[in-house]
Order: sequence, then C-alpha cells, then structure tokens
Amino acid sequence: MTTELAPLGSGQMFDHIARRYDFVNRVLSFGMDLGWRKRAVRSLQLGEKPRVLDLATGTGDLAIDIARMHPGATVVGLDPSQEMLAIAATKLAKRGLTDRISLVVGDAQELPYRDCEMDAATIAFGIRNVPDRKRALREMARVVRPGGRIAILELGEPRRGFFGGVARIHCRHVVPKLGALLSGSREYAYLQRSIAAFPPPEEFATMMQEAGLHVIEVVPLSFGACTLYVATPAEDA
Ligand SMILES: C[S@@+](CC[C@H](N)C(=O)[O-])C[C@H]1O[C@@H](n2cnc3c(N)ncnc32)[C@H](O)[C@@H]1O
Repeated sequence: MTTELAPLGSGQMFDHIARRYDFVNRVLSFGMDLGWRKRAVRSLQLGEKPRVLDLATGTGDLAIDIARMHPGATVVGLDPSQEMLAIAATKLAKRGLTDRISLVVGDAQELPYRDCEMDAATIAFGIRNVPDRKRALREMARVVRPGGRIAILELGEPRRGFFGGVARIHCRHVVPKLGALLSGSREYAYLQRSIAAFPPPEEFATMMQEAGLHVIEVVPLSFGACTLYVATPAEDA
C-alpha cells in the first residue's frame, strides 16, 4: 500500500501537521516567529476600530496578535485547512477572543469580500503555499481600502554573510530532519524546499507591484531568514 501525500502546501497537507504545527514552528524558528508576527502587526499602523483580514491564518497566531495589540479590532482569519482552523478555534476560545476573531474556510486566490471592505490584510508564512501568488496579491489589493496596509511575512534562504550561512545550513539540513522528527511527518521536507524556492525579496516585491500594490518597505528580519513586506493598494491600479 502506498501512502499518498496531499498536494504540497495545500490545506490538506496542513491538515496532516495541524496538531503539532505550533510546537514545531516554535522549535524550528527558536521562538523568533513570535516577534516577527508582532513586527508585522505594528507595520499595519491600524486605527481605532479596524477590520483586518488574516489570510492563511492557520492556527491563528497572527490573528490573535492583531486582536490583542488592537483591542478595538475585529479580525477574519481565513484558511483552507479545517484542521488548522480547528486548533485556531480552540485557542480563540481559551483566550476569550471568539467574539472578535471569526474563522472562515477559504482560499487566498478568491476572497469572498467586496472591494475595499477591509482596513488591512496580512498573510504570514502562507503566500509561499498559494499556487497563483500574483492572484492572491491582487485579491489583497482589491479588498483593502485605499491607504490601508498589507503586511506579508515570508521565510527565505538568506544569501549573504556569516549569519546568512548559518541560517542557510539550518534551513537546508536542520528544518527537514528536526521537523520530521518532532512532527512525525514527511511534510517538513516540503517546507525546506518551498523556502529555498521562494523568490528573493526584490523579485517578490516586483511581483507585488505588478499585482497592484505599492510597496512601502521590505524589511529583512533575523539576518534575512524572514522578510516583512509592507504595502498599500496602488492608487492607479
Ligand atoms: C505555514 S502555515 C502559516 C500559518 C499562520 N499564518 C502562521 O503564522 O503560523 C501556512 C498556511 O497556509 C495555508 N494555505 C495553503 N494554501 C492556501 C491558499 N490557497 N489560501 C490560503 N491559505 C492557504 C495552509 O492551510 C496553512 O494553514
């Protein structure tokens, strides 16, 4: 009998690793993912009562940070993985956030929202998994109001410097092996390959511009192991 892997990066693939996702994430990033998400929330420069869309919300960490750092905010967390959302739902209930964060099964490539309906949108470690990235970027540009911000966090292989070299070794050799060991799943080999295959920051920023976004800043975090992209819908798009 052969065990087939779900399409790589898809919601079904994440269904398989949902239960151990938070724990493995924390270990593999040495807990740095917590600070990266908070940095992304600050970059949104939200007002008093913003409505924010968190795409590829997974187990909900970024949606939770937005709600906690902005007590007037309401957040929609969208993801195709039912199992990831089930973990998110438990976390929201524990933290008393169910009235401010709603969870929706959906695809970043086709958002069930009207033009300009959101004050901001985010996607953390998710755009890498979306088959048509430009389409998802266009959707973000469409649903966020003029002047609202879009923050994207994504991992990459640092290309330069001593610490870049250390991070590259970590990504190529430690992530797939330790990920498999901690999660009991083969999916972490995909994680490493998808990080290595993600375009360099300047190339991805160009794709964002082509998709109708005005890129405000591209910030390397932790020696470029992660990059924060901050944008707003382009006025002439
Ligand atoms: C690495 S997890 C990131 C979860 C969360 N944002 C975080 O910060 O930990 C990637 C998520 O992307 C989701 N995903 C995969 N394909 C997607 C798509 N087409 N649209 C939206 N999310 C997608 C997966 O289901 C998974 O929950």
